[in-house]
Amino acid sequence: MKTILVIDDENMNRMSTKFILEKAGYNVVTAESGDEGIMLLSDIAADLVLLDVEMPDKNGIETLRELRRIPKLSNIRVCFLTASGSQDDLTEAVHLGAKGFIKKPCRPEELAAAVEEAFAKNDDRLMLVIDDETMNQMLLKRIFGREYHVAVEKSGEDGLAFLGKNIPDIILLDLKMQGIDGEETFQRIKQDERLANIPVIFLTADTDRSVEQRLFKMGAMDFIRKPFDPDIVHERVRRIMELQRLQNLLQDEVERKTNDLIHSFNKIQRLSEQIILALSAAIDAKDAYTNGHSDRVAEYSREIAKRMGKNDTEVNDIYYAAMLHDVGKIGIPGEIINKPGRLTDEEFDIIKSHTVKGAKILESISEMPGLSVGARWHHERYDGKGYPNGLKGEDIPETARIICVADCYDAMSSNRSYRKALPQEIVRAEIEKGRGTQFDPAIADIMLKMIDEDADYKMREV
Ligand SMILES: [Fe+2]
Repeated sequence: MKTILVIDDENMNRMSTKFILEKAGYNVVTAESGDEGIMLLSDIAADLVLLDVEMPDKNGIETLRELRRIPKLSNIRVCFLTASGSQDDLTEAVHLGAKGFIKKPCRPEELAAAVEEAFAKNDDRLMLVIDDETMNQMLLKRIFGREYHVAVEKSGEDGLAFLGKNIPDIILLDLKMQGIDGEETFQRIKQDERLANIPVIFLTADTDRSVEQRLFKMGAMDFIRKPFDPDIVHERVRRIMELQRLQNLLQDEVERKTNDLIHSFNKIQRLSEQIILALSAAIDAKDAYTNGHSDRVAEYSREIAKRMGKNDTEVNDIYYAAMLHDVGKIGIPGEIINKPGRLTDEEFDIIKSHTVKGAKILESISEMPGLSVGARWHHERYDGKGYPNGLKGEDIPETARIICVADCYDAMSSNRSYRKALPQEIVRAEIEKGRGTQFDPAIADIMLKMIDEDADYKMREV
């Protein structure tokens, strides 16, 4: 069983991390400070240290720095736990060989996966040397043998065959070789999606600058001139690998942040939808005769908007505006809304005020300015004889003109206390009659087409 040491100054974090990792099958030891952790490590053989970055006294970076100075512990795997880690910390941690960063707080499965990944990372980094000169092969093996598993291939063909089965961390590539030369080998590497990101350093005795320029443009990382100076070769490779590691870490971080953002965005979107649905249910609950009215008007409006060629965002905006078009009814006394007999003029005026009341309620939702438009003007008529403002024709916002048709259609095709839904041919005739007077003729035409396609009269309250 693998042993993990968790160093974190917060008791809750230590306990929860221990709990999660023990459940995932690890043996977990905890320490509440860097010093305690270092002391423990001299007694226990830990396979991995999870190290909190922000700690009083000695922080995570300082602790790791100290660990790296203790010969017995200098190679221990370390992953950071961090809530906010600054870029400087990140850079230094990478220099110090941290295996990864686990962002706090994280879900149990994320923690277990990150730990698994830290274990999966192979310490034996693989270097591929493609060079036909034995002397160079031996020299490079001697320089890098302690840090890398160095694979040697003596031709471009052999190198590519090796790459068919292995993905090294870095490639050192001789430029001049028999058969497939360095440049062609490099081109093939770059064309292979699996290999394209592996850093390639050319080994060359060539002093032709134009070749260098061309290869740099194609993505070569560096050129090392033969004969080699071992220290320079070593330092160049070290720098390139560091750069690569940093780049990968940053890429991971960007990916993680992007996923977080998408997750939050989707959550907010779902929340907004749920609030709108709850509000529309509240509207319909107020009016005993219009069960599901808002829902159906929204569905019909969405279909009309789609047929008008609106894009997804526009269709959605219209859908939500339609869902809330009668929200002002919340502000109208229930006894007037649900009055069984004829309304007096005064009562009718009060009912009419649901348009302006609704618009005022929805105006406060500044993120969706289109919502209030539907509420305010869905009782306007194309001929200018509607309310509340007597707007005419195209002066009525399109969203309101769509909702108006959908709203009237649903009023006729749904049941009332005093009648069942009207027969489809009567509803159709009424829409046709209102074409150009009550309704925008183009939108009425779309509604008529929808009716004609609805052979079984499914678009109605059942
Ligand atoms: Fe209305």
